[in-house]
Amino acid sequence: MTIPLPTVTPLRRSLLSVPSINQRALDKIHALDCDGVIFDLEDSVSLDDKQRARDNLRALFRDNPLREREAVIRINPLDSAFGRADLDLVLELSPNAVALPKVDTAADVEAVQGLLDRAGAASDLRIWAMMESALGVLSAGSVAAARAGAAPRLDAFVVGLNDLRKETGIPPRAGRQTLVPLLMPVVLAARAYGLGVIDSVFNDFRDAEGFEAECAQGRDMGFDGKMLIHPAQIDAANRHFGPEPEALAEAEAVIAAFAAPEAASLNVINLHGRMVERLHLVQAEALVAQARRIAERKANP
Ligand code: COA
Ligand code: MG
Repeated sequence: MTIPLPTVTPLRRSLLSVPSINQRALDKIHALDCDGVIFDLEDSVSLDDKQRARDNLRALFRDNPLREREAVIRINPLDSAFGRADLDLVLELSPNAVALPKVDTAADVEAVQGLLDRAGAASDLRIWAMMESALGVLSAGSVAAARAGAAPRLDAFVVGLNDLRKETGIPPRAGRQTLVPLLMPVVLAARAYGLGVIDSVFNDFRDAEGFEAECAQGRDMGFDGKMLIHPAQIDAANRHFGPEPEALAEAEAVIAAFAAPEAASLNVINLHGRMVERLHLVQAEALVAQARRIAERKANP
């Protein structure tokens, strides 16, 4: 089946995970400035609370659904006792995406694609794959390739470092020096197949300085945004993964330079002593479009 591409790239600077069992937290999401919400049914919900968590989401989607922002439901693994009931809930509520935990191979996403297709899921219901196992990270290229093959609903990778550290024995350290080599191939695999790619949560939500540094690093690694665990992390993520004022001014200058009549037939121009090509124009237009969408959201929260 063909999946229509979104007409605009969604904003994904800040994706707040909310334990679906925490009604107080669920009540807060509408007032928060995150770009999307990941409603968690997996690790943050105890085994005894799984059904109550699903009921909470059913009520939220019915009474007060999230609008103009991505709503993602993270289900339990399909080979657990809860995964199938979670997927039934996804079919019932039709969020923007279902996030699959602990994806190891392309077969994991292909299985969910098959289940969604056979159940007649909405054509724009997408799949996000959590890259958080050693095998998953090792298989990032072939998992991403499923987007072009048997799993066209696959839309984004989300890195999960808590599980990855647990499995690999890599300790949590500022700077993530030993993790970066594992994560860059995940970013590259996502980009090779047109997927979004979201950086991992940062656990120490009172460490604002450490969080800022990790956002800046994630941004430089090429991530679209960060999965968050606490409202206090939203502003910094929006800032780091949104367009910087200087970059925006530069983008506007590039657009203006190519719009000049003398540039009409040129593919490369001299902008204040720097080579600028038409490919930079495409990037500049994307940045300005992102800034416009952020401004529109601010105007109509
Ligand atoms: N989404 C929405 N609201 C949240 C929130 C979240 N993820 N995390 C905290 N809040 C709210 C709290 O409900 C609290 O509201 P209140 O003042 O009305 O009680 C307020 O923000 C301040 O929270 P705070 O007291 O600083 O933290 P806490 O002890 O309530 O919660 C955590 C700390 C870590 C337990 C909580 O942030 C959390 O559960 N985060 C998400 C965990 C998760 O999703 N894990 C799975 C993915 S790794
Ligand atoms: Mg996990």
